[in-house]
Parts: sequence; C-alpha cells; structure tokens
Amino acid sequence: MTNALLHPFSPPVKPEADYLEIVRGEGSLVFDVDGKGYVDGIANLWLCQVGHGRTEIIDAVTEQMHRIEAYNTFAPFTNGPAAEVAEMIVERSPHPDGRVFLGCSGSEAVDTALKLARLVQQRRGQEGRQVMIRRTNGYHGTNFGGTSAQGIALNREGWGDLVPHFIEVPHDDLEAAATVFAEHGERIAAVLTEPVQGAGGVHPPVDGYLEGLRHLCDDNGALLIFDEVICGFGRTGSWFGAQTFGVTPDLMTFAKGVTSGYQPLSGVTVSLSVCSELEEPGFLLRTGYTYSGHQASCAAGIANIELMEAEGLVDRVDSIGERLRAGLTALEGDGLLESWRGMGAIYAAELGRDAVSARDKMLEAGVIVRPMGTCLAICPPLVITDDEIGRIIDAMADALR
Ligand SMILES: Cc1ncc(COP(=O)(O)O)c(C=O)c1O
Repeated sequence: MTNALLHPFSPPVKPEADYLEIVRGEGSLVFDVDGKGYVDGIANLWLCQVGHGRTEIIDAVTEQMHRIEAYNTFAPFTNGPAAEVAEMIVERSPHPDGRVFLGCSGSEAVDTALKLARLVQQRRGQEGRQVMIRRTNGYHGTNFGGTSAQGIALNREGWGDLVPHFIEVPHDDLEAAATVFAEHGERIAAVLTEPVQGAGGVHPPVDGYLEGLRHLCDDNGALLIFDEVICGFGRTGSWFGAQTFGVTPDLMTFAKGVTSGYQPLSGVTVSLSVCSELEEPGFLLRTGYTYSGHQASCAAGIANIELMEAEGLVDRVDSIGERLRAGLTALEGDGLLESWRGMGAIYAAELGRDAVSARDKMLEAGVIVRPMGTCLAICPPLVITDDEIGRIIDAMADALR
C-alpha cells in the first residue's frame, strides 16, 4: 500500500511499507525503526560531515528558535546569524573578499548562480551572452535551471521544454569545450561544473581540466561557476574543491555540508568582481527566497562550521581517503571490483553491472552506500572511524562475493 507521501527520485508505485525508516543517528551510525544499526557510508546523501546526533548543533538551533524561528532578510530586514554565517563561509571560500547569497537547497543555489551569471553579463553590456555550458554526468539539482544543466540525460526527460541555450560538452574532454568556445565564444555566459562530479558517478576532473576551463572562460569573457554542493565543506580535503584543485571560479554554489543537514541551508559565493557589478547605487537584486537567511538554518551553519573547525574535520579527509583507497584497491586486486575512482572522501566502486543488488546485500549487513548505475558510491561522514571504514569495505567484499 502506498500512502500520501511521494518520494523523491523513487517509483511512486513502491509501497510505503517497503521503505527503510531511519529514526536515529549517532556519529557515523544510523538506526532503523527496529533498532538495527548501519554504518552511514553515504553521510545521509553526501552531506553529513560532522556525523549524526551532534548536540552542539541541535542546541544552537533550539536556542535560536526560542529567540525567533525565522524572519526574512528582504530589505529593510537582516539578522545576526545570516550575517555571521555569510562571513564564516566567504572567509573559507575561494572568494574571501566576495559576498554570499543564501537559500535552502542546492537546487536553489544552482538556479540562483545561473541567474546571477546571466545578470552580470547583461550588466556588462553583454546581452547576447546567454549560453551556458554543461558537462555530461553533471548533476545540478532539479529546479528548471538545474534540470536544464543536468548532464544526466534521463533527468532532463519528460518535463517538456527546458531552459534554452544550454550546450553540453563531454565531461573529460577539454578540446571539445575549446571547440564549443571557438564556435560560440561570444554567446557564452558561463560554464557550470562540479569540481568532482558526484551524483553522475563520482568523476574527479582529468588533469588540467578545471584550469583549462578557467583559461577558456578568461579568454572568451565567460564566467566560471563551480557547483560545490557535494565538494564543499571539506569533502575533497580543503574547505572547497576550488582550493584543492587551485582554480578560482567566479561564482560557487554550496549546500549539504554547510549544516551537515541539521537544517536546510545553501548559497552562492560571488567574487569581488561579480559583486562590483551588483553594487551599483540604485540597482535592486530582484531574486531571492522567503527563507534566504533563515535564522535557524544559519544557526545550524555556524555551529556546524565551528564543529568542523574544532575537530579538524577537513584535515581528517586525507586519512579517511587513504583507508578507503587501500580498501578499494584490495577489492579490485581480489577481482571483486572492475575499478574504483574518487579522491578525498568521495569514491565510486565500479562493478560493471547494476549495483542495486550489491547495495541491498550491504544494507542487510548493516552498511549504507548508494548505487549509481553500475557503481556504488561511498561518501562517509568526516568523523568516520577506521573500524567503521573497515566495516564498509568488508560488507562490500561480502556482498560482491
Ligand atoms: C552538485 C549538486 N548540485 C546541486 C544539487 C541539488 O541539491 P538539492 O538536492 O539540495 O536541491 C545536488 C544534490 O545532490 C548536487 O549534488
């Protein structure tokens, strides 16, 4: 029997009783309604950096809610938590002298970034620049802008006409991007890319790819947008992928890890030069959300970043990555995997066949990973222990044997 709830990215015909209900969490473990424990190898959905059940964040949100739950930040209003989390985010971002626009979801951040890129081009007198470059395998959320920017073809299908002026390039071929620039350079507003592609199968950039995109954008008057909804907040071993790869975008989206999921919060950081296009006296920025700068979400963001800092979680990524790589390499050596790819604390184990049944076997064994076509994604909380990483690898080995 189904019930009233329509689940995201799920078959609407699936009975409610066939879903797994997670009711509690502690560190890198979550527990279902029957009390069975699981190692959360996917950090909820690529996001729970500080682990589950962290009272520091719960208390910060509760305290904020007791003062006021939320009040909008449309002029003339502002609030302390929004201003404070904005400072904390830009300080750590590739735009320390830039500014940040806040929303709730990654999809909102992506659509806002696309709009801001077009807006900046318009304000520079480049009205003809409307084309956005997207990459195969890219995942950029499910609003209309993000859907149009998807490089996962199935996600674009069935919705009727999408936003026009998107051109797709192969995700690993800089020459192909250069060809598109050669043909359409004067019409290109921006390139949108994840530093490491996540939901499209965990694809780190090929050597020189992100630098190459930066050069193409610079040489042709286009903007570079990094979608760091998964990469941001430590996942690649620095606060942001931009720093890991040494490439500075003009705009950068974030969500997920900014609060570790304790409240919905997202945003777009913009460079000083983008800011300067917006800060003209008399100009009104006509975009935003009721919950842009929601106090309880911002309180969660502040407490989450403080926790990440206090526990050195960004620095833990190296050792997490080392253990995961060693485990995956051993599975590959035993012939259980075709290959693996990834970096930092985000990996995909390539099985070469549909991954759902392996995922199901791992669930039975008390480990959560995410099937994506023919691979299994691992993206654990940044507090995961060596023993818990071992449980992920052992459960994967058993499932594949
Ligand atoms: C890179 C990227 N961008 C955007 C999104 C969309 O975020 P949300 O689901 O919060 O709208 C996601 C979600 O996984 C993502 O991975």
